[in-house]
Amino acid sequence: MTTVLLTGGAGFIGSHTCLVLLEAGHRVVVIDDFSNGSPEALRRVSELARLGSWRQLAPEQWAAGEGQPARLTLLKGDVRSPQDLDRAFEDGGGGDSGIDAVLHFAGLKAVGESMGQPLRYWDVNVVGAVRLLEAMGRHGCQTLVFSSSATLYGITDRVPIPETAPLQPINPYGYTKAAVERMLADVAASTPGWRIALLRYFNPVGAHPSGRIGEDPNGRPNNLFPFLCQVAAGRRQQLEVFGGDWPTPDGTGVRDYLHVMDLAEGHGRALEVLQAEPPQLLTLNLGSGCGHSVLDLVRSFEATNGLTLPYAVVDRRPGDSAISVADHREAERRMGWRTKRSLADICRDGWAWQSANPEGYRGSDRQPGRSLIQAQPVS
Ligand SMILES: NC(=O)c1ccc[n+]([C@@H]2O[C@H](COP(=O)([O-])OP(=O)(O)OC[C@H]3O[C@@H](n4cnc5c(N)ncnc54)[C@H](O)[C@@H]3O)[C@@H](O)[C@H]2O)c1
Repeated sequence: MTTVLLTGGAGFIGSHTCLVLLEAGHRVVVIDDFSNGSPEALRRVSELARLGSWRQLAPEQWAAGEGQPARLTLLKGDVRSPQDLDRAFEDGGGGDSGIDAVLHFAGLKAVGESMGQPLRYWDVNVVGAVRLLEAMGRHGCQTLVFSSSATLYGITDRVPIPETAPLQPINPYGYTKAAVERMLADVAASTPGWRIALLRYFNPVGAHPSGRIGEDPNGRPNNLFPFLCQVAAGRRQQLEVFGGDWPTPDGTGVRDYLHVMDLAEGHGRALEVLQAEPPQLLTLNLGSGCGHSVLDLVRSFEATNGLTLPYAVVDRRPGDSAISVADHREAERRMGWRTKRSLADICRDGWAWQSANPEGYRGSDRQPGRSLIQAQPVS
């Protein structure tokens, strides 16, 4: 059994990956400050993984799963805090088995917001990664999977985009991901023994097929799919399609959408590969390799779910590109991973989540621990 620390594990991708790791028999410790994640997500993960009830170990620390150490432990903490990180490494599970690997999801991810608040993005994304690397050094852990992004490639005409394409980010968010990738390459080169995977996600969407966990953005969603789901649920009036005059078959932007469960399974594979092979720095695109336009997505959502989505085509957004599709062959070659789920699966599962949880995790009446609700209301 491997013990894995998930930073940002209460968020969208982290919570789905947590479930995949628990189902694979691993033990998981999560550290999250709940700035964009919910403890309720992990309570539901523990239910889906049939771990049994939660118990409180210490203030703002909960654990689920029979026996010692717990299968899933949740700590409220900030990745920029050495003390919080030490707590996660030392007593995250209430046991002494130690952390074998880290999956680093914690971070800020809104491109537009990063342009208005660049220092906040550099602080959380880059300083957070520096503090994490220091903590891993203190605790003798050298296996890391990092959440990188296709945003790194900036605006490019290459279709599909291979990992060898030049990195030319065009916003602070993209620069922070590029900076952390560079830092991890420097760390790997400086000290033997590091096993690091840089996973460059394309457009993760959808939800667990149970409809129990999914994406729950704070405020107005920045990305198309959660926005579209909120329109379908009646929370937003209509979908804004940014640009109808792109050089694409129907004039709308083309993206590489991948089901979040495929992405979560990709993390499980990356961990297996890192642990099985000699130390290395692995850089992989995670995408489906297929492009779908905004209107393809709208039509698939309507057809799959029997709904009509009101939309309006508006001006292009600065910084968007016509087409962004992954060259996914390296991930298949290196880890035997490729996406299994279709656009229709994405639309069905995303709507199952949104329709059963129109306000996301807000309003949910059950939490891991009552005092956690008092300490950190989910609002
Ligand atoms: N969702 C996407 O489209 C996408 C695409 C490419 C890359 N990524 C990257 O993947 C990672 C996870 O994305 P997500 O969609 O799950 O986002 P998310 O916002 O749902 O999850 C991030 C989690 O990190 C937590 N967090 C934020 N700052 C923290 C801090 N200082 N200390 C501890 N926890 C903190 C949040 O509360 C949240 O639970 C991010 O690093 C993001 O940049 C996401």
